[in-house]
Amino acid sequence: MHPPYATALRFLALAAAVFTLDLAAADTRSPREHLSLDANWKFHLGDDWPGALRLDKAGASSGPASEKFNDSAWRSLDLPHDWAIELPFDKQADTSHGFKPVGPGFPRNSVGWYRRTFELPEADSGKRLWLQFDGAFRDTTVWVNGWLVRRHEGGYSPFREDITDVAHFGGKNTVTVKVDASKFEGWFYEGAGIYRHAWLDKTAPVAIAPGGVFAYSQFPNNVPAGKAPILAELTLINSQDSSVEAQVNYSFKEFDGTTLGELRDRVTIPPRSQKVISTDAAGLTFTLGKYDLWSPESPRLYKLVTTVEVDGKVMDHKETEFGIRTFAFDPTNGFLLNGQPYVLKGTCNHQDMAGVGAALPDALQSFRVAKLKEFGCNAYRTSHNPPTPELLDACDRLGMIVMDECRLLGSDSENLRKWEDQIRRDRNHASVGIWSVANEEFSVQSTPAGARVARTMQEFVKALDPTRPVTYAAPQGDTFDGINGVIDVRGWNYHIGQDMDNYHAKHPLQPAVGTEQASTVSTRGIYQNDAPRGYVSAYDENAPSWATTTERWWSYFADRPWLSGGFVWTGFDYRGEPTPYAWPCINSHFGVLDVCGFPKDNFYYYQSWWTTRTVLHLLPHWNWPGQSEIRVDALSNCDEVELFLNGQSLGKKPMKRNSKLSWTVHYTPGTLSAKGFNGGRLAAETQIETTGDPASVQLTPNRATLNADGEDVSVITVAVTDARGRIVPVAVNRIHFEVSGAGKILGVGNGDPSCHEPDTFIAQMPVQMIPVTGWRWKPATLPAKGALAPEYATDLDDSAWTAIKPKTDGDTGDMVLKEGQSAVFRAHLHLTDADLANPGVQIRFGGIDDHGWIFANNRRVGESRDWAAQPAFDIKKQLHAGDNVIAVGISNRSGTGGLNPDVTLELTTNPVAASWSRSVFNGLAQVLVQSTRAPGEIRLSARADGLQPATLTLTTQAGAARPSVP
Ligand code: GAL
Repeated sequence: MHPPYATALRFLALAAAVFTLDLAAADTRSPREHLSLDANWKFHLGDDWPGALRLDKAGASSGPASEKFNDSAWRSLDLPHDWAIELPFDKQADTSHGFKPVGPGFPRNSVGWYRRTFELPEADSGKRLWLQFDGAFRDTTVWVNGWLVRRHEGGYSPFREDITDVAHFGGKNTVTVKVDASKFEGWFYEGAGIYRHAWLDKTAPVAIAPGGVFAYSQFPNNVPAGKAPILAELTLINSQDSSVEAQVNYSFKEFDGTTLGELRDRVTIPPRSQKVISTDAAGLTFTLGKYDLWSPESPRLYKLVTTVEVDGKVMDHKETEFGIRTFAFDPTNGFLLNGQPYVLKGTCNHQDMAGVGAALPDALQSFRVAKLKEFGCNAYRTSHNPPTPELLDACDRLGMIVMDECRLLGSDSENLRKWEDQIRRDRNHASVGIWSVANEEFSVQSTPAGARVARTMQEFVKALDPTRPVTYAAPQGDTFDGINGVIDVRGWNYHIGQDMDNYHAKHPLQPAVGTEQASTVSTRGIYQNDAPRGYVSAYDENAPSWATTTERWWSYFADRPWLSGGFVWTGFDYRGEPTPYAWPCINSHFGVLDVCGFPKDNFYYYQSWWTTRTVLHLLPHWNWPGQSEIRVDALSNCDEVELFLNGQSLGKKPMKRNSKLSWTVHYTPGTLSAKGFNGGRLAAETQIETTGDPASVQLTPNRATLNADGEDVSVITVAVTDARGRIVPVAVNRIHFEVSGAGKILGVGNGDPSCHEPDTFIAQMPVQMIPVTGWRWKPATLPAKGALAPEYATDLDDSAWTAIKPKTDGDTGDMVLKEGQSAVFRAHLHLTDADLANPGVQIRFGGIDDHGWIFANNRRVGESRDWAAQPAFDIKKQLHAGDNVIAVGISNRSGTGGLNPDVTLELTTNPVAASWSRSVFNGLAQVLVQSTRAPGEIRLSARADGLQPATLTLTTQAGAARPSVP
């Protein structure tokens, strides 16, 4: 029976060892460590151990879940990792998930196993240990040292587990994670595997709870004026048997660490409990007289450093970044940032990028946020799921307001627990401006139950975060029933026009935001719809029935100040949802940027009307042999634009706000150019030229120096140019890449929504399997402790021994031993010098029941104690060319026992290096190069048939790699 507090206070179920922490060791430094667990995992794709999870007995799980399992033949990799991106496209697979053969209908590709080991020093004994996963797709089972520690459902919510009880202090620890991606959650590419970071956290038994710090500013009337009141809330855990008196120190700092002020509080935490305290409740006030407000244009951050001491010894120390700013949605004036009207120029985005799928290294989060900012985007909706924390870090630091969305509408305890984790984790982020309870919940959104559930979720937010409003991304028109009637801010997915105006007239006191708009479809560099190839023209003219063009949605919103602005579907293309097409198209077309981040022409429309920069852009390209009349558009925010072909004016036209200009031009090769005028004065010039044929490859990195931390990434643009260095806008050459030095290629892409070339190339380690057959056995008395028995001898004649039945499908063979019986099993193996020249030679057993000792040519190679394991042993050293004898002594303790005759010799050949390539699409492709931890140069070379090759050298600098578990 469970004690009543068992579920509520699970975190308190700690080993006795916890209570004996040597506090003296933690005298000046906090025992808290936040260690990356990303590196050095082993990975195996396939549900080859369906019986591994055992629920009858603790610690009985078998196969990879067992500590004894040998994973040396598995692939080595680092997290974040998405195995779906590595699979080939398959026409039978799900369209909306991008035709990757994973999920329903593809059981073989839908379960992945990860394993890694780590050492824990004896000195950690007494600390609390947390294993944390920021996200894995999708259902996860975690074992530590053979113990089942967690089963988690959900591909987007973080989860953590206290593993203190089952850890081996002063020894090796094994983490096994089974990830099951058999079930979809969304209707878009979702990846598969541990695609976000994993962590090992160590704390003292008195510590700040996970998600337990909340630092925020709150101004009267939610308008920054006068001094800035800064508040802090803290949740503390005392895992000890006795109550503790803790001293809490809040230190408010500039981002660079300069202290601005401090507050102190004392708190008694009863034994085995949590305590929530706050500066407000304690009557402590901290105000800043001089401060900088956070905004996308000036993303100024501050820090709260919280220190917890007991008896003068530091128990915990945690830094929390926050911003000083206010967000409000006003029914008349729209969104207010720091009390001032501020138009949200947002984009919705999935977590998916060329080359890496859902597994984005942190550097790519910053790359993507910076790309969005280039066209004036100031807001990001994490559609339709909780984001990874590093995306929010990038938004905090680069300046981007975030709509932070829950995956699913639901007020059941499981959904609310996930919602709570999301809010607690994200609420300190300066960038988070509004919460969204869900997206397009068609079945329930207009019902009274839908309204009640949304209201519960909204009230839940207010209890954890009084500073931000809540919305719902509603696909309805003029409908107030259900969720729309209870939500703080009416979210609008589509429905521009009369519906929106009518609704606003009827509900003038409810603020509104365009949660999802546009869904304009276009393909980079394509100027004619081409259904067979899956391309849509990049003129702003294509949108599915529920959607509209870029110009139409934005000019409608720009005219209505009460609308708070809105979010374009989408900033970046993503895999799946290839609307308006299906196979062979595997990728969406909604992006302002393609899946690599290369701009489509609509980028310049937004840049014209969303930034204060002077913009002048012409489309299409000017390579049209054999064509006559060409539509030419100018995207610009100049008052007037004049177009020229080969120096001849084709007329000057006035530009209407939030619009664009068009000409029909008779094609002649040469130079198409334009001049933009403001107030009659030349303000901008641009030109595009007819290029020659492809002549060479060019490589241009977004960053030429990387941190040598094994994580940093340079995004390299690959361009095919003509002899004069101009990008050939119709080039499709296949480029081959090689990298050497202190880096590796992470992935490649080109933005072509119908390209089926791989994004990743994996070094293969081919394994040759030789069945070990002809087993014979004889009862024997085995010497203790696996010592040599005469029956193991190489020159023994075993031809009269009893043959065991070979294994048949679904059968473990002939389990010949009775309870308490022991015997020796022998087989002969003929090998050549060539076999033994392979780098890896191991023998794998289908099962040894119960206790076995394994000998090769009369020399012991190992021992097996787990009847349910499939143990493998490296026996290269014990083998020779010619005849070899494998002998296994087995002692059977209970039930029937013996040798499962499914035994193989696995010869692992030398890895075959991956050979990387990608075609350019309309002149461009992308290579993602990641640093290793070794400082030095990285050389990337690119070559293609008939083109001048290119070489790029990146440098890496020794930098602070994040603290990690070796
Ligand atoms: C919306 C939906 C998005 C995406 C989009 C495509 O209705 O919320 O996830 O599917 O349509 O236009």
